[in-house]
Amino acid sequence: MTIVDTVKSAFSERFGDEGRSYTSAGRINLIGEHTDYNGGFVFPGAIDKVIAATLRPNATDRVNVHALDLGESASFGLEEADVPSQPWARYVFGVCREIIKRGGHVRGFDAVFAGNVPLGAGLSSSAALESVFAFALNDIFNQGSIDPMTLARIGQDTEHHYCGVNCGIMDQFASIFGRQGKLMRLDCRSMEYEYFPFNPDGYRLVLIDSVVKHELVDSPYNKRRQSCERVAATLGIDTLRDATMEMLDNARPRISDEDYRRARYVIGEKQRVLEVCDALKRDDYDTVGRMMYLTHAGLRDDYEVSCEEIDFLNDIARECGVTGSRIMGGGFGGCTINLVKNELYDRFIQTASRRFNERYGHSPKIYDVVISDGARSI
Ligand code: GLA
Repeated sequence: MTIVDTVKSAFSERFGDEGRSYTSAGRINLIGEHTDYNGGFVFPGAIDKVIAATLRPNATDRVNVHALDLGESASFGLEEADVPSQPWARYVFGVCREIIKRGGHVRGFDAVFAGNVPLGAGLSSSAALESVFAFALNDIFNQGSIDPMTLARIGQDTEHHYCGVNCGIMDQFASIFGRQGKLMRLDCRSMEYEYFPFNPDGYRLVLIDSVVKHELVDSPYNKRRQSCERVAATLGIDTLRDATMEMLDNARPRISDEDYRRARYVIGEKQRVLEVCDALKRDDYDTVGRMMYLTHAGLRDDYEVSCEEIDFLNDIARECGVTGSRIMGGGFGGCTINLVKNELYDRFIQTASRRFNERYGHSPKIYDVVISDGARSI
C-alpha cells in the first residue's frame, strides 16, 4: 500500500467518509547553504520522500487532525488563542492562522496525515508538513487563489511565528515548487527562479544519514542568522548578499571574530553557487564536487554547524574518491549529500556504512536521491 492509500483508508476509518488527498515533499539542496536568509542563492530540489494528507471540511470551526505515524490526535479552534500544545499540531495551526492573516479562508476540517520524510535528517520534514496543508487548504477553501510563492511564505511564517525557527524560504519553496527531475536555482532576494534538469550522466546523488538529530528550535540556527544580520548592519547593507570579502576585511575591527567567520562563509558560498551553475552548464561535475567539499569545510570551520559524525562521513567520502560531499541542510547532525561516480557507488556505501558502524555503534541510513514533484493533489 502506498503512503497515500494508507492515509486515505485511515481517514475513512476515523472520520467515516472520503476526503481529498495531497502530498508534499522533503528536499535536498545541491549547494547554497545558509544563504537563503542572507538574500543569496540556493539550489534545491524536491525528493521522493513525502508527507501525505487527506482532509475534508467538517462544517464547524474546529480542526481535528490525526498524526498517523505518532498515533496522536489534536483538536483546536482557528483563533490565535487556540494554539495547540503538541509541537506537530502547531505546524498545522500555524498554516491555518497564516492563511487567515492574509485574508484567506479556513473553516473547520478533519484530517489525517503520515509521512516517510526522515525526521531530523535535514530533509525538511517540517516544510513538507506545512506545504501539504498550505496547498490543501488553498485548494479546499480558497479555490487555489493563493499563489504558490505566498503558500511557501505561509509555511515559512509558520516556522517563525509558531515554531521558533527563524528559517529562510528554501525548504518551503522546494516543497511547493519542486518538479520531477529538476533542481531549482532560487535567488532569495529577487525570488526569481530557474529549473535545471539534473541527470548527471555517470553519477549518482546519495544521502548518508548520520541519524544524529538536530534541534533547530532555540538553537544555534537562529544565532547564525543573528550573526549575519549584525555584520550586514555593521557594513550598512540589507543582507550579506551585497557584501564582499574586501568590505568584510575593512570592517574587521568592528566585528567579533565569530561573526567575521560566519560572514566569510556566507560570502564564499554565494560565489560557489554561481560557479556550480556555470559548471553544470558544461557538465563539469569535478568542479561541482570541489565546490561541495569547500562548502563542507566552510560549514565545519567558519559557520560551525557540522558535527563529528558528519565530518567523519565527509572524510570517508574524500578517502573513497567521491566527487563531492558535504553536510546538507540546517546542520547540527542530519545527512551528507554525495555526488558519486556510478562505479564507486557500491564501494563507497559499503565502506561508509562499515566504518561508521565500527566507530559509532550504529549504521547510517542511505537514501538514493530521486528528484520529484513538490506539493500536489492526488
Ligand atoms: C534550514 C532552513 C532553511 C535554510 C537551511 C540552511 O533547512 O529551514 O531556510 O536556511 O537550513 O541552508
